[in-house]
Amino acid sequence: MDLLTSSIILASIAWICILISRARKSSKLPPGPYRLPIIGNILHLGPKPHRSLAKLSQKYGPVMSLKLGSITTVVFSSPETAKLVLQTHDSSFSSRITPVASKAHRHDEFSVGWLPAGSQWRKLRKICKEQMFSAPRLDGSEDLRREQLQKLRDFVAERCDRGTAVDVGKAAFTTSLNLLSASLFSLEFARFDSELSQEMKELISSTVKSVSRPNLADYFPVLKPVDPQGIFKETELNVGKLLLKLDEIIDEKLKSGGEKRDLMEALLEINRRDEAQLSRDDIRHLLLDLLVAGTDSTSGTMEWAMTELIRNPQKMAKLRNEIRSFMSENGKQQVQESDISSLPYLQAVVKETLRLYPTTPFLLPRKASSDVEINGYIVPKNAQIFVNVWASGRDSKIWKNPDEFLPERFLNESDNVDFKGRYFELIPFGSGRRMCLGLPLADRMVHQMLVTFVGNYEWKLENMKPEEMDMNEIFGVILEKAIPLKAIPIKV
Ligand code: HEM
Repeated sequence: MDLLTSSIILASIAWICILISRARKSSKLPPGPYRLPIIGNILHLGPKPHRSLAKLSQKYGPVMSLKLGSITTVVFSSPETAKLVLQTHDSSFSSRITPVASKAHRHDEFSVGWLPAGSQWRKLRKICKEQMFSAPRLDGSEDLRREQLQKLRDFVAERCDRGTAVDVGKAAFTTSLNLLSASLFSLEFARFDSELSQEMKELISSTVKSVSRPNLADYFPVLKPVDPQGIFKETELNVGKLLLKLDEIIDEKLKSGGEKRDLMEALLEINRRDEAQLSRDDIRHLLLDLLVAGTDSTSGTMEWAMTELIRNPQKMAKLRNEIRSFMSENGKQQVQESDISSLPYLQAVVKETLRLYPTTPFLLPRKASSDVEINGYIVPKNAQIFVNVWASGRDSKIWKNPDEFLPERFLNESDNVDFKGRYFELIPFGSGRRMCLGLPLADRMVHQMLVTFVGNYEWKLENMKPEEMDMNEIFGVILEKAIPLKAIPIKV
């Protein structure tokens, strides 16, 4: 045999081995529905992918694979399998799939939400945890948040006097934005009904929407340069405007000398000491992340909580009684953040809301950084990972009457379930090293806003009985109520 023939034979054997190993690997992929050529399972998603995939997982099991265009996606739909992804194999699943929209203004290269789980990402998380989300830091900024809650109180009181409805989601959005900006830069961003508030809301909401809109270029990377739906272009515009706004705030802060010890001041101090450690670009993109991640998610949760309480007036009354008894027994005019732990029904209402309406039903999609074997299947390197927390929240094997709003289910002290990432049946903030960075602040904001809405008022719908309310949702990164909740506050 000459050299050429033997080389050809060897190359052919090597090629066959590669093909066999690929075939083995794909035969060990988790089961899933039949895939159409080119588009794969995109049509299976439908307008409400969290519901469609929960249904499919009843047929194919809690570890299921799909092909979304050219992207292999593995969906985990039970607490046990979520634990395998987020705890047992956390290090292999800690990076993100970056949608094309996240690349607007190169945001993904700076962003704590999109960066791969490497040293830069760790550094940003550490700075935020120490400078903003630690208990002493949050305690230190409580006064600023109290001022913003007072504004919500005044706004609701004025609507009550006039007998006009409050758009609960909008009011919660403005308050979330102000609570966040008070905590981040000691600054009020927006006034209720003001144009600036509207502009900021629209910019932030459109940014969230453009990142979450199904984008053909994410499913078929060859389409990236074409941007067929114009999503990248639209995001560039919105992110550009937000970055400009943040630049103005940074400049203002630099001019004023920054006597307040807030996150922004802490970031600027690190930057002054060592530009390489934290550049101005790092700062603007970090602030952008916190604003975008923290507003819609918090106000969406609030709107669902109020929707369910209005549909269940006895539970609303029970919550109000708990708040008022607590205040009168302790001689308090106001509930403070440290009082939340003394209000078990309030906490149960928030848990129940997040069980039924996790604002990010699949968490933020993760990416497998290597082949990982789970339950005898191979999750291949680079696969997109969805953890369907919505499905676990509605699973009748875990929850009795899963579709009913029953905060009482969380009052059993022996269970002591919380949403801080340890109980995989309830992980609306995710779990593991990539879990929600803002949880400690979100926890305080959501409880306090609910106290403000419920403490002194009954709420009545305009021209509709509570049981007639439309409960549909729109799927996106944020699970939004399709028809905004508008209700009139009545003093009690
Ligand atoms: C009710 C309110 C909120 C909910 C339900 C929520 C939920 C989530 C979820 C599910 C994730 C993905 C976790 C994962 O992949 O395991 C996440 C990530 C994140 N959240 Fe939140 N969030 C809320 C409020 C906030 C707030 C107030 C902030 C900041 C001020 C914030 C900042 C972030 C950031 C920066 C990330 C990305 C973390 C990373 O990739 O390392 N969130 N959030």
